[in-house]
Formats: sequence, C-alpha cells, structure tokens
Amino acid sequence: MSESLVDAYSRKISSLRISITNRCNLKCLYCHNEGEQDSGNEITVEEIARLARITSKYGVDKIKFSGGEPLVRKDFEDILRALPPMRDVSVTTNGTLLAKRAKGLKESGLNRVNVSLDTLSKDRFGFITRCDNSHFDRVLDGISAAIDAGLTPVKINMVYLKDINENEMEDMIDFVRNKPLVLQVIELMNFQGVFKYHADVSAFERSLKERADKMVCREMHRRTKYYLDGAEVEVVRPIDNSEFCMNCNRLRVTSDFKLKPCLLRNDNLVDVRGLSDEELEERLKYAVSIREPFFKL
Ligand code: GTP
Ligand code: 5AD
Repeated sequence: MSESLVDAYSRKISSLRISITNRCNLKCLYCHNEGEQDSGNEITVEEIARLARITSKYGVDKIKFSGGEPLVRKDFEDILRALPPMRDVSVTTNGTLLAKRAKGLKESGLNRVNVSLDTLSKDRFGFITRCDNSHFDRVLDGISAAIDAGLTPVKINMVYLKDINENEMEDMIDFVRNKPLVLQVIELMNFQGVFKYHADVSAFERSLKERADKMVCREMHRRTKYYLDGAEVEVVRPIDNSEFCMNCNRLRVTSDFKLKPCLLRNDNLVDVRGLSDEELEERLKYAVSIREPFFKL
C-alpha cells in the first residue's frame, strides 16, 4: 500500500477541490466564492495536471472543479484531458454555459456535474443571481444537455434561503423525480453578511425523514440521502457541524494555485507556484499537516 496524506486528526485526503477561476457571469446574493478573497493569475492546465499527478500517488482519486464559474474557462476541456486516471471527476457550475459544452466535457473525461439552481421561478432566479433572468432558460437547457451527455447523476444545488425559496421544496422535489437528478439542499453558510437569508433546514429534514423510503449515509461529511417515491434528496449542513469537519477529506486549491487547508480560513494558505516536483510534494505534506477541523467535536 502506498503512502497516503493523513492529517493530525487522522483525516485522509482523498479528494481535491480546485477553484479554476474567480470570474463568474452571475452575482448570486449568497455566494461564498469558495472562501477566496483576492487572487492572482489563474492556475494553468500544467499546474493542475502536475498537482493531480503528484497527489494521485498518495491515493487522491477524486477531483471537484469549482469557481467562480468554471465554464468561463475556455480551456476547461484541456484541463480535463490533462488529468491522470481518476475515480471521480466533477464540476460545480451555474449551468449557464453548459448546454453547448456538455457532450465535449463528457468526451474529455468529466464524469458528472452539480448545477446551482435555487428556484424554479424565473423572476426569483433573477433576484437571487442579481442578473438578467434570461439565464434561467440557459440553466434548464444546461441540465437537459448534461443528462443527455451522461454527466449523471446531475446534482441540483439549492441553497435554502429564508423567505426566498423555502416554499419551493415540493416543486424542487418534483423537478428531480424520476430523472437522473439529485436535489442537494444546502444550509446557507455565513459569508459577508448573507446570514439574514439563513433558515434552519431541520424542519425540512425532519419532514423528509418522516416520508422517506430509505436512507443511506454517504462517504463524506455528515450527509444523508433520502429517497421519496422516485426522488433523491440530499441535505448538506456545513455550518456548526463538527461531524462535517471531522470527516472532511478534501484539500482545496485556490484559483491562483495555493493549497487551502479549510474553506473557512484564509490565514494558512500554502503557495505552491513555481516549485519543482520535490518541493511541491514537500509543501503538499506541510499543507496537510496544518489542517484543522474548523468545528471540532
Ligand atoms: P459532491 O457530493 O462530490 O458532488 O461534492 P459537493 O456536494 O460537496 O460539492 P458542491 O460543490 O456541490 O458543494 C455543496 C456544498 O458543500 C456547498 O454549499 C459547498 O459550499 C459546501 N462545501 C463544499 N466543500 C466544503 C468544505 O470544504 N467545507 C465546508 N464547510 N463546506 C463545503
Ligand atoms: N452557503 C452555502 N452554500 C453556498 N454555495 C455558494 N455560496 C454558499 C453559501 N454562502 C454553494 C452553491 C454552489 C456551491 C459551489 O456552493 O450552491 O453550487
């Protein structure tokens, strides 16, 4: 068995979460921008490929790409093609640029997509994204194209927002029913004063528990899947949740190629630009060694 990357809390790193750009064509009112503050030049195809190759030697077999909006990068397909073999390669996208590229992304090695869609109301979509609501139809087209291309299961990320979309839960469940879609309901994390929109998802989760046919705990974080008559729903509760942190197995990478031990901290980034393979490996081990659960048991 080859060496693995394990931190001081016995958390083994098995996945990378790489932000490939800070740019985005939407301005969602709650967005945490992957906890990034400022950034320099965007991470290159070569930097991503090298990090993936080195970490795969240590058992990292899953990569999630995020942003900003990852699909604003025209070379995303090149990034995918440059990766070593992985068990799971996925992207979290706002879906607006997905329709035309879904097939090519699949052919380039992408396994699946998560698409942010917080509402089924076009007007509300405009309010949440603070953009022209014509993007709404593009997102729906993007989801259909992803299904057709086999980028499945497509997770629909719905951030649960007080007085905005709380009343849409049944419609969202219907939207994913009997399709290769999973509804991922996410409790809002507090970034830059967005907490006025926070609503506790406990009551919603309790109602799921009462109605669900079947429940399975997933590999990572404290997440539970619920199956309701052909609809699959997952609830993500990333805040104040020590179990979530204690099970965190991902190492983040910022869009300017720094290792980021925790979404919620910016004081311990590890710059890995311009290093030799040996130096990069050493900095990687250092970044893992300073990982701390944000919420401890
Ligand atoms: P998959 O299940 O593999 O598709 O990944 P995911 O669901 O974690 O990815 P996605 O990008 O859809 O993120 C879902 C939610 O989890 C978002 O609200 C993220 O902000 C949150 N999240 C992702 N990574 C972290 C993390 O490292 N720490 C915390 N606290 N929350 C995270
Ligand atoms: N709280 C919870 N989830 C968030 N996301 C973005 N900002 C927040 C926040 N403040 C989610 C979106 C997006 C994913 C990358 O992160 O659903 O799909």
